Amino acid sequence: MKKNKRKKVVVSTPGKLMLFGEHAVLYNRPCLVCALNQRLFVEAEKISEDEILISAPDLKILDFSISLVDLDKEQPKEVRFVLEAIKNFFQTYKVSSGLKIKTESQFSAEYGFGSSSAVTVCIIKTLSELFQIEMKKKEIFDLAYQTVLDIQGIGSGFDIAAAIYGGVIYFLTGGKIIEPLEVKDIPLIVGYTGIKASTSEIVKQVKKEMERAPRYYQNLYNQIAKIVEKAKIEMENSNWPAVGKLMNENQEILRKFRAPSIEYGVSSEIIEKLIEASLKAGAYGAKLSGAGVGDCIIALGENREGIEKAIQETSGAPVSVEIDYQGLKIESF
Ligand code: PMV
Repeated sequence: MKKNKRKKVVVSTPGKLMLFGEHAVLYNRPCLVCALNQRLFVEAEKISEDEILISAPDLKILDFSISLVDLDKEQPKEVRFVLEAIKNFFQTYKVSSGLKIKTESQFSAEYGFGSSSAVTVCIIKTLSELFQIEMKKKEIFDLAYQTVLDIQGIGSGFDIAAAIYGGVIYFLTGGKIIEPLEVKDIPLIVGYTGIKASTSEIVKQVKKEMERAPRYYQNLYNQIAKIVEKAKIEMENSNWPAVGKLMNENQEILRKFRAPSIEYGVSSEIIEKLIEASLKAGAYGAKLSGAGVGDCIIALGENREGIEKAIQETSGAPVSVEIDYQGLKIESF
């Protein structure tokens, strides 16, 4: 039976948080990541004009338009992921059409919940639906990862995996392993530092330091990898006090990085304050999440109210999230 031609589709993906293994995962070590119940939505529609129209009010883009023939040109930062994903999809599947795209996010792009990777995944999925090209999850991953590398040059792809698969994932660099884990009811608390961190800047600084002291960093990454393996087991056993302890150990190693600062490594004063406040309020453990310096900290503990209050009183902002188990989802045709 011939399927109906689709003209318009809406898909959504969850945001993400790194639980364990940041930085090391860039260098062929595993990490643990979870998807969050705050989602990013993309609506895409074929249009007869040879242009792409984008409206992304969260990014303050109301009516961006570009002709299809200009897709190869350098694009403004805010729409780069959308346009690169479209270009890569068109090239890979030898299709083309004018499009009208709308994006909307339930989370602020400031939190570091992965809006760029989420939008990239959504665009590829909407196009696979509009052009009726079946793509397996791993094919979506590969094309989205390629898109992110085209733009950023470096990245492990953990955020893309979270957007597609949802849940809690054991992940190895570039998607060499994407293993969804049976983990439920994590007593996870999230605090925003109030500072937007630039992942690519921090990654570049660490890389530079690493080139100066390769053995030192390889040793840190190996220690992180061991923690990730232990955390995987303890999370599957729901042994939260043990997972918390491993968070503290992971944080201790992140402090030993010599970039961006000698004093805090990839951590920072505000991150340390929020961690200390969380631990004092009874958290089993706490650490930064992602590249570091700013964005969010994560803590584990049963006393959610007390820990969130402590974060608030230390000039952080608690962000109420749960784990998402749905991953990439078609909302409507
Ligand atoms: O800053 P975030 O939340 O995008 O996380 C970055 C994590 C890194 O390991 C530093 C980079 C990566 O792509 O894995």
